[in-house]
Formats: sequence, C-alpha cells, structure tokens
Amino acid sequence: MSLQDCRIIELPKIHDPRGNLTFIEGGHHVPFDIRRVYYLYDVPGGADRGAHAHKNLHQFIVAMSGSFDVMLDDGRDKYRFHLNRSYFGLYVCPMMWRYLDNFSSGAVCLVLASSMYDQLDYIRDYDKFLDAALKPAT
Ligand code: TYD
Repeated sequence: MSLQDCRIIELPKIHDPRGNLTFIEGGHHVPFDIRRVYYLYDVPGGADRGAHAHKNLHQFIVAMSGSFDVMLDDGRDKYRFHLNRSYFGLYVCPMMWRYLDNFSSGAVCLVLASSMYDQLDYIRDYDKFLDAALKPAT
C-alpha cells in the first residue's frame, strides 16, 4: 500500500439548530471494521506523537476538537495533512510512517482502528520501516 491509498474522507453531517451530528459506520464510511477507539487529549503545546508505522493496522483519524497535522510517509513520498474539522477524517492504510504535531490548544485526536492494541504490529525504527516498505514484493 502507498500514500495514494490514504485519503481524507468526508463524513455525513446532520445539520441541526440544536447542534450538528456526525456518524461513522465501520466498513461503510471507513474501509475497515472498527475494533478499537482511542483518543489523544491534553496534548501540551509543542508536543508530537506517533513516529512509528503499523504492519497491518488500518486507522481513521479525526480532529474531534481543535486541529493538528498528520505527516504520512510511505518510504518514497511524504505528505502533511492538516485536520481541523470533526466531519473530515484521514484514512491511514498499513505500512505508513506517521508523525502528529502542530496540536492546537484543546485539540482532541480520535483514532478508529481495525484491531486491538498489539505492540508487535508496531515498527518504531525508521530504518527498519524503510527496509520493509521498500522491499520488493515477492
Ligand atoms: P503509542 O501508540 O506509542 O502512542 P504515540 O505513538 O501517540 O506516542 O501508545 C502510547 C502508549 O499507550 C504505549 O505505552 C501503549 C499504550 N497504548 C495502549 O495500551 N493501547 C492502545 O490502544 C494504544 C493506542 C496505546
């Protein structure tokens, strides 16, 4: 998979004078079944998160509040996405090095994930990531 498989997805938005509503259905609005939800919050100014890749995990990242950047790198190309709306999310396919920074004050980063937490799915060394990402398919 490559950076071209990652994309911003616009979510349904039900406008209502009492407050807007957005929903996400696994396998429909995001291209995987949702097995886990986690979120980052109380991120101090100047902090960064991520700096790893996942071998098999699919993720969908939404700025529920505030804004932040997600830099994606497939070993060949890099792209910086800016997330700042709760009705847009970024689909991140497996084998993508990611780095999150530029968090605004009060930002909340919601992540939907395709499987349970598994530390064996992480690649935390960038050179090992490049070796795996650029290895010719057999
Ligand atoms: P990590 O994914 O390394 O966060 P980041 O890349 O944003 O720095 O996770 C940080 C810690 O939280 C790590 O000790 C593992 C733990 N963790 C869980 O126990 N379950 C989870 O679902 C996640 C995402 C992390």
